[in-house]
Parts: sequence; C-alpha cells; structure tokens
Amino acid sequence: MAPTVPPPPPPTLVIAGASGDLTRRLLFPAIHRLVADGLLPIDTRIVGYAIDELTTGQFLDRLRHGVEEHGGGLDQRAWAALSANAAYVRGDLTPDAVEALAPHTTGPSVFYLALPPTLFGPAAAALADAGLAAERDGNWRRLVVEKPFGTSLDTANALQAQLLAGWREEQVFRIDHFLGKETVQNLLVFRLANRFVEAIWNNASIAQVQITAAESLGLEGRWRYYDQAGALRDMLQNHLMQLFAVTAMEPPSVWEGETLRQHKVDVLRATRGPTADNAGIWAVRGRYTAGTVQRPGEPEPVAVPGYREEPDIPPDTGTETYAALRLEVDNWRWQGVPFHLRSGKRLGGDLTEIALQLRPAPRLHFERTASIDPGADNDVGEDGSQWVVLRLRPDETIEVHAVAKRAGLGMALERITLTATDHEAAAADYSAYEQLLVDLVAGDRGLFVRGDEALEAWRICQPALDAWAEGEPTPYTAGSEGPEPPLGFFEPGLAPWRPVAPPPSADAARVR
Ligand code: BG6
Repeated sequence: MAPTVPPPPPPTLVIAGASGDLTRRLLFPAIHRLVADGLLPIDTRIVGYAIDELTTGQFLDRLRHGVEEHGGGLDQRAWAALSANAAYVRGDLTPDAVEALAPHTTGPSVFYLALPPTLFGPAAAALADAGLAAERDGNWRRLVVEKPFGTSLDTANALQAQLLAGWREEQVFRIDHFLGKETVQNLLVFRLANRFVEAIWNNASIAQVQITAAESLGLEGRWRYYDQAGALRDMLQNHLMQLFAVTAMEPPSVWEGETLRQHKVDVLRATRGPTADNAGIWAVRGRYTAGTVQRPGEPEPVAVPGYREEPDIPPDTGTETYAALRLEVDNWRWQGVPFHLRSGKRLGGDLTEIALQLRPAPRLHFERTASIDPGADNDVGEDGSQWVVLRLRPDETIEVHAVAKRAGLGMALERITLTATDHEAAAADYSAYEQLLVDLVAGDRGLFVRGDEALEAWRICQPALDAWAEGEPTPYTAGSEGPEPPLGFFEPGLAPWRPVAPPPSADAARVR
C-alpha cells in the first residue's frame, strides 16, 4: 500500500487590527465564503489581534454580524468550524505584546495588517522582532499589507526598508484589489491567447491608450483618509498604474507569479511620467464643486455639495478629487504611444476601462462618392475613433470597434461594435478580495504588488505631487466629465477623453 501523505497543517490567519471595519465588512465575510465553498480549508484558524478589550466570544459576535450584514448570511458548517478554531488576543504593537501570538501561530501563518497605514512599518517590525517572521519546518509566514504603500516616493522607500528589515520580499504580499478583478486577468488571457490581439498590441496599430476609473461616488464618510490622500495617491499611483502595467507589459514566457511581476517592473522602468518641466501639461488635477450626480440604481440625479463644502472637510483644503497623468513608454513596443490615465470622484458616470485607440487604416478606399446612399456616412475611421475597450465597470465587457459595409446597394459604411459582455461575471464571480485571499494562502504572488513595483510607480507619480505643492486644483462641476485637459495633454490627431458615462448595455448596443 502506498504510504499516506498527511494533510498539510491548516493555515492560521492572524488579523492585526481585527476590531476594525475592514475585518467585519470585507475580510471575514470573504474568508467565511471561501471556507463555505471549499476554497480555503475548513479548519482554517482565525486569530484576531487588536488593542480593544474583547473576549473571543465578543470577537466572534462581531464577525457573525459582519457575515450576516455583508456576506449574504451564515453558512452553518463553515461558521461552526471557523468559530470553533477562532481566538482573540489583545495587545499593542510592541514585540513583547505580539509575542502572545506565538502559541497560536505554530503552523503556516498569515499576518494580515488591517491597520492604519502609519502602523504597517511598526507592526511588521514588532512581529519580526518577536520571532514570528521566521519560517521553520516548512511552516511559511506571510505578511499582508494593504494600500496605500507610502504616501510619497520617500515614505514608500522608508516603508520598504522597514518591511525588509524583518521579512524577506517573498513573504510580503502587498494588496491592490484591482489586480484581483476579473477583467484584469481576462486582459492577460485576451492578449496572450489570441494571435490577432497580440499582433495589434503595439505602436504600429495603437495610437494612444486611455485608462479611466471614474466614480460618481463622493467621500462616503472616508474624509479623514481621503483629504490626506487625494485622487493621485488613492487611485492613480496604485490601481491605475497596475492597470497600465498589465496592459503595457511584455508577454511573460511562463504563467508564473514572479515572472509576471518582473515583466510589470520592466515596463514601469521604461516609463516616463510628468517632470518638473512639463507637469503643467502632463499632470492634471481637479476638485469638484457643487452639482448633480446620477448614482447607479437611483431613480433621479441628486444635488451634491462641492468637495470643500463636504461635512468635516476643511474649507481651505488643497486636496484634489481628480487626477490625470500622461505617460510614455520608451521601449520597442510602445515608443510614441501616449498612455493617459485618469480617475476622479463625483464624475458624470461610473466607468472603469482600458481603451486603446487604433490607428486609422492607411487609406479609406470607399470614398463618399462611392456611395449611392445619400444618407450614408463614409467618414468612419477617419476621425481616429476606433477603439479596443476592456471595461471593468459597470460590466465586464470587451469591445472591438470596427467598420463594416451597411447592407444594401452601394458601398455605404457603418461603425459596428463587436461586444462580449460576461453577464455571468457579476453574479457568479468571487470578489477581488476573495481571489486574492485564495492566492495568498496558496502562496501565489502573481496578483500581489512587489516592492520594487510599488517604488517604480511612485517614481513615475512623485513629480506630479511635487508640482502640485503649489497652486490649486482646477474646479469641475460634480456630475461632469472633470476638468478640461490643457493644450498638449493629448497630441494633435488623438481622440480626446472618452465620455465617463458608460455606454448603453451590450444588449442595447448594435452587436454583430
Ligand atoms: C479604493 C479607493 O482603493 O478603490 C476608493 O480607496 C475607490 O476611493 C475604490 O472608490 C474603487 O474600487 P472599486 O473596486 O469599487 O472600483
């Protein structure tokens, strides 16, 4: 008889900052769902760690409410197993205090820092000083850090040094939840599994790329964090730079986490962003003033105050609620193709997409005169507005814009859109967080940000922040498209920003 291999020891998830909102609303409901669905082991152990005086029973009550409110209800079997194995440990972030975690973390363990960002460095150091980063007998130790990773190039460098003083880079899992989104992974498949796509993915066929994350949402009670951060730190430096890197990177030779990350770092290193000289053109910031926004699912647009009038925001705040950057990539594939990235709050739509503008055909053979249909529009393709679009929100969609012959006599042309919408995605899919938690426990680092990646993204963005130390963001009305870009942001001949209002759903669009 073949010898039986003992099952691997169950993972322990230590959540530092366990009494906070992130654990209750997001983290624990995700863990619970994954255990219920068999995607994490049933004997996964949860250890809450925080400064609050709580018993394990009170901690469990909070977790249960979190799942009931935010996780779609309790799965009795998963809950019974998780609650039987859970513990709460009270303590601060000194090495002496965190040592109390040692008896709970004798097997493979994740230390998830659900803490304010200023505590990432001290917490990582305390855990390492208490000996909890040491991996013995195959029992791995992983440290999870949320965004933001630093608030500037200097602070990110300092945080990186603090983390690596006690942990190896391979042990550190930096979360950027955009990398867990379905379309980001689908982008890689779309590019790499289709010869016709990879064949046009270069400066011969693409004129520019626009990457947008537009939200009609305002601060949602997060003013304390947001007013310190602003749009560039909140979205551009991390989420949009990741979308950019995945779009622009070279195809990896193997589907393996470290190789993917290296390819992203390579393209980031080849990227130029704003400089002190051109930041007035290449970096745009705005701040919303009072207006009306249409929130998804709401019957009517609602009037909203300007950012400076929001409750609790200091009226003289200098924070931007919109940021846009132009980037260029100095490599063989992308030289001469500007990448335009933008994100903003309280815009006129909820749209997240990567849109690649195709260069027009060298010659349009079908002149206006060739048409015998007087109403026909043969100008298609000449205004340079053909796009390949990967949309993450409001729906998971891939669109390819093309020109076709309109049925009938004569050579009348029309635009068509080839649209693939994954209607199942929203309903059946796991959240980005759930995807990342599975990878975390499996030790797959491909969808986590490596330290040098975060630092390269900061290198590209920092000159914009430096330039913004002076002056004020441009006002834009809530519910609008955001501020107009300055002359020169888009090179002549390129299409301007695409509208932030999402197009009608695929069902309503003309589909062939
Ligand atoms: C977060 C930002 O990281 O991402 C928020 O802090 C933003 O300001 C959010 O609203 C957007 O994420 P998603 O998944 O809703 O597009």
